[in-house]
Amino acid sequence: MNVDGKKYRTIWLAADGASVEIIDQTKFPYAFEIVKLHTMEDAAHAIRVMQVRGAPLIGATAAYGVALAMRADPSDDALHAACFALLETRPTAVNLHWALDRARKTLIQVAPEIRTEAAFTLANDICDEDIAINMAIGMHGMELIAAIARTKREGEPVNILTHCNAGWLATVDWGTATAPVYMSHDSDIPVHVWVDETRPRNQGAFLTAWELGHHGVPHTVIVDNAGGHLMQHGEVDIVITGTDRTTATGDVCNKIGTYLKALAAKDNNVPFFVALPSPTIDFSLSDGVREIPIEERGGNEVSQITGRTEGGSIETINIVADGSAVGNPAFDVTPARLVTGLITERGVLDANRQSIANAFPERVKVS
Ligand code: MRU
Repeated sequence: MNVDGKKYRTIWLAADGASVEIIDQTKFPYAFEIVKLHTMEDAAHAIRVMQVRGAPLIGATAAYGVALAMRADPSDDALHAACFALLETRPTAVNLHWALDRARKTLIQVAPEIRTEAAFTLANDICDEDIAINMAIGMHGMELIAAIARTKREGEPVNILTHCNAGWLATVDWGTATAPVYMSHDSDIPVHVWVDETRPRNQGAFLTAWELGHHGVPHTVIVDNAGGHLMQHGEVDIVITGTDRTTATGDVCNKIGTYLKALAAKDNNVPFFVALPSPTIDFSLSDGVREIPIEERGGNEVSQITGRTEGGSIETINIVADGSAVGNPAFDVTPARLVTGLITERGVLDANRQSIANAFPERVKVS
């Protein structure tokens, strides 16, 4: 992604070769700040407080966290301790488990003297693979958008609705749900994106809108409850969201509110697609509603809102009546029956066990 003429990934090895740099996503959309991670604890902190967030980027950060831990102490005990500590940071996105599992299984076979180098190489590989996956998702998703564009009048945009941020900032580059959008836009297919603001943390308004704006993609931020109304009036051609964990049967867990979008899409015959990189598939689970752990976050995310005043200062204010209880489940599960298709790096799949297993047979065997 280009920012002010410079190409960035969301995470990279610093020039000193010993630390890692990230873009602090808690500062968006008001500031673009780079933060250095020196230790495994820095990486764990960055995931926990959501300086980095989004399933693929959480996995990539965890892999670098292991590498930073190995730089401090490359022993077997330190490897296990680092994986354990990083796993505790956030519960829902399965990419965290996937990356740590891969790191532990790979590095335990490497002699401690060369483990640090191997750990950094693995983290770099995970980042490169994430980019390749997202580009493939982008190509497959663009075909869906192009097919809709062919049904429209010349110049009329394809209206895409998305929820949360499954964009460049949620991955290492390109994004999952946004890769088809960026590729379509870059190929002169007219697109317009309805961006759900995504309360309580406003990933849509703060991150997705910022990204799309920097890429020059026409978009409109809407409140989370507007999607159903827009669908009833023919203003949405396709919904594309990301996912934090998808079961072997195609149930999709994503940011809270995604399920309601899928229900509205079903009622209005709007295709509901999920951009799904294969590390986000949890082949051990069959029933998303019952089996996927849903992160419950602090009530202050609901009772408070942060923004920039007209005077330019950043302020946090309370927006809930004093004394009222607040609840904050961060994710929900959309059952496979509401999902039109899964846009993976190996093509667009039906959301069912057979279709997913056929596309990723090697993952089914090892799980
Ligand atoms: O709580 P977050 O901001 O980490 O949640 C992110 C999402 O729900 C994304 O849609 C999901 O991780 C897919 S990102 C490609």
